[in-house]
Amino acid sequence: MISLTPTAKSERILVFDTTLRDGEQSPGATMTLEEKLRIAEMLDNMRVDVIEAGYPAASKAEYAAVHAIAKQTKDAVVCGLSRATREDIDRCAEAIKPAKHGRISTFISTSPIHMKWKLQMEEEQVHELVVAQVKRARTHTDDVEWSGEDATRSDHDFLCRCIEAAINAGATTINLPDTVGYSTPEEYAAMVRMAQERVPNSHKVRFSVHCHNDLGMAVSNSLAGIHAGARQVECTINGIGERAGNASLEEIVMAIKVRDDVLPYWTNIETQMLARASKLVSEVTSFPVQYNKAIVGRNAFAHEAGIHQDGILKNAQTYEIMKPESVGAEHTSLVMGKHSGRHAFARKAQELGYRHSEATLEHAFVQFKALADQKKHISDDDIRSLVAAALARQ
Ligand code: KIV
Ligand code: ZN
Repeated sequence: MISLTPTAKSERILVFDTTLRDGEQSPGATMTLEEKLRIAEMLDNMRVDVIEAGYPAASKAEYAAVHAIAKQTKDAVVCGLSRATREDIDRCAEAIKPAKHGRISTFISTSPIHMKWKLQMEEEQVHELVVAQVKRARTHTDDVEWSGEDATRSDHDFLCRCIEAAINAGATTINLPDTVGYSTPEEYAAMVRMAQERVPNSHKVRFSVHCHNDLGMAVSNSLAGIHAGARQVECTINGIGERAGNASLEEIVMAIKVRDDVLPYWTNIETQMLARASKLVSEVTSFPVQYNKAIVGRNAFAHEAGIHQDGILKNAQTYEIMKPESVGAEHTSLVMGKHSGRHAFARKAQELGYRHSEATLEHAFVQFKALADQKKHISDDDIRSLVAAALARQ
């Protein structure tokens, strides 16, 4: 079991990465065994606490991947997902057997719409399955997570009855997914708080948040849930996942790190590995990372506006709230374009190895501005030509 060692100031949040399970459920993101092993190794080295390796009952290949990840993983808990059936749970237990620390995560829908249309079950049947599935999982491991799928659209009385049943049956983590990304931060926090207040023995388990991004609020909702008492966050690299994706690991981890003044928590993640992790997942899935993606997008530490470039050259903190090195990004880049100013232009010319007088620089800068009005991308070669031409005039 993972130990929680809160410091005087802050509490640890366990990072549960589901890139290989919920992330792989993104249409078009299917990964080979070899690719999954590479990502799992990277996650383990990055000190993710729990790797959700897959859904063993889904297929032979899925079983083989979870089994192989369980075998290779050194530190992280390796988790497999299973539906509310004895067969799924037993298959999952087999798959995670080689793991040093293995977890079974089992789920069933608790919302009226899912119970009526998907499960075609009454509340009492679902409640019985919660007890049976958690008890069965506990025969295999003492680390069992239970999720009430579509928790955010569930009736609170029924959800609390199911959570209580799961705890009494032996669940050690209770996960409350916002399966369809429907919640808002205040509402999600209220649900997480309500569950802890109302369910007897809730202090004996760890609450977990699992948010989808359909309204673009997955990260905010996750942080709100943490504020309300959850101590595990489920997320994916680059935020990949079903439909609009899951909460993004890199955004949650860096929000906690950068804003520890208002988010008094810590994670064990080696943040310098975030850029590399993002690149690997993007390459493997062939899903490009949007340029302006927080933390890992290629523009996350790029500046084009002259006023910003000037500020950055004087003190990077004027326009950067974290160091690029802290997430493993190469360095701050000053992008040369029509918004750029003299200072950045002079710095660029210097970086390219030119020594020039003020007059030469001024001439080259005027030419640069004229070119930048016509061209979207100004390359280093463009700058070289402009400065060389200005020098030749001397
Ligand atoms: O979003 C969700 O509800 C899930 C569960 C299976 C945990 O991914
Ligand atoms: Zn999910």
